[in-house]
Amino acid sequence: MSFLASEAHLALIAPQTSKVARRTEASPFASQAAVLRGHQAGKIIGIMTRLERANNVADLRLMARRRLPRPIFDYIDGGADDEVSLRRNATAFAQYELVPDVLNDVSNIRTETRIFGQSSRWPLMLSPTGLTRMFHDRAELAVAGAAARHGLLYSLSTMGTTRLEDLAQAFAGPKVFQIYIFKDRGLTAEFVARCRDAGFHGLALTVDTPVAGNRERDRVSGLSLPPKLTLRSLLSFALHPSWSLPALTGSKFDLANVSHKIDALASGPMSLFNYVGSQFDPSIGWRDVEWLAREWNGPLAIKGVMTPDDARRSIASGATGVMISNHGGRQLDGAPAPVDQIEAVRNAVGDEPDVICDGGIRRGSDIVKALALGATACSIGRPYLYALAAGGQPGVDHLLTLLREEFVRTMMLAGISDIASVSRRHVRNRARGAVQP
Ligand SMILES: Cc1cc2nc3c(=O)[nH]c(=O)nc-3n(C[C@H](O)[C@H](O)[C@H](O)COP(=O)(O)O)c2cc1C
Repeated sequence: MSFLASEAHLALIAPQTSKVARRTEASPFASQAAVLRGHQAGKIIGIMTRLERANNVADLRLMARRRLPRPIFDYIDGGADDEVSLRRNATAFAQYELVPDVLNDVSNIRTETRIFGQSSRWPLMLSPTGLTRMFHDRAELAVAGAAARHGLLYSLSTMGTTRLEDLAQAFAGPKVFQIYIFKDRGLTAEFVARCRDAGFHGLALTVDTPVAGNRERDRVSGLSLPPKLTLRSLLSFALHPSWSLPALTGSKFDLANVSHKIDALASGPMSLFNYVGSQFDPSIGWRDVEWLAREWNGPLAIKGVMTPDDARRSIASGATGVMISNHGGRQLDGAPAPVDQIEAVRNAVGDEPDVICDGGIRRGSDIVKALALGATACSIGRPYLYALAAGGQPGVDHLLTLLREEFVRTMMLAGISDIASVSRRHVRNRARGAVQP
């Protein structure tokens, strides 16, 4: 089975840009078109009303579960093996208490910061996720649009379904490209050049995927190569027509950033996924990081770093930051929760580099805790995918509004008026029993 087995079969069933909507616009039957437009407007109002009822990430997750066929929901929601790291990434935050100051003036909260050398309205960024078109037909453009509206950095995955040039053209906001060091270093160098030309501000090099994690939910549903969808999975697709019909009627779905590599062969999505899967190189090492840092010569974070030693080595190899991450519990099950590694990593690299806590963030208060432990910012994956599936760009917009409100409210309740003054004394680890003065 190829590295990208679980992604590959999904290309065959993924939703695509709706031709139906375009055909409707061009229809000569004006009254019919008006009815359909009315229907569309009604649909949008329906989505907005539903979104209003979502009070937090957990609500958006439930909405996504209702809207998506089960195999697709499980592809977002699941993790590797027994999903121990997946669960712990989030629950580890509960181990930290916030220790508030009182009677500080919190009438004005300063939240601006810099990540990857770019200004960010508050300390959150959106992690790279592949195959986003499977969850909504506007895919990465919807997510990046919401991020830009909120003044946040968006990262586009190599495995994304939107060309990096198209994304850069659509949004002037700060953007990062998630890159791999492929067997064909020429392909990686090509990405570096394209990102520079398109105006990307930073690169995130993912290093926690020398081999695919064992995602058993995908095996159970039959999301394998070749696809072996069970009767139950097929039934779930049939029961979710609002997802499945656009998937069947839309245009071609592919890995937009690499498809040119095999277009000449005209061999279809399976061959494309096989090609990309075959490019993953389990032999890469620090010299390759040094090479990439030289090639790019700009803000570069190593994504998947877990230990202080590797964080130090990342910076010594030319990176400007690290993303503490276990790939949202999708790779090495049993890896520590990112939040538990922040303090040691920050101590190892000093004040200057970006230290981004990636994974498990489900509340604005989690971000305050991560900052207090030494993070520059946090990064989210699943929360925005749930929101995207639940309601497209308005869904992601709603999620970011909720998280920001939670973040600012937590800052006020903790008596901290400026993120620059969030410090170690504002957080206490119950498990260690460390009591601050
Ligand atoms: C559906 C899905 C696809 C992902 N695809 C990628 C990817 O292509 N590249 C990558 O570096 N990380 C990928 N990730 C990991 C995220 O970048 C991020 O590390 C993770 O989602 C953070 O955990 P959280 O989901 O708890 O926020 C993916 C995660 C999910 C859920």
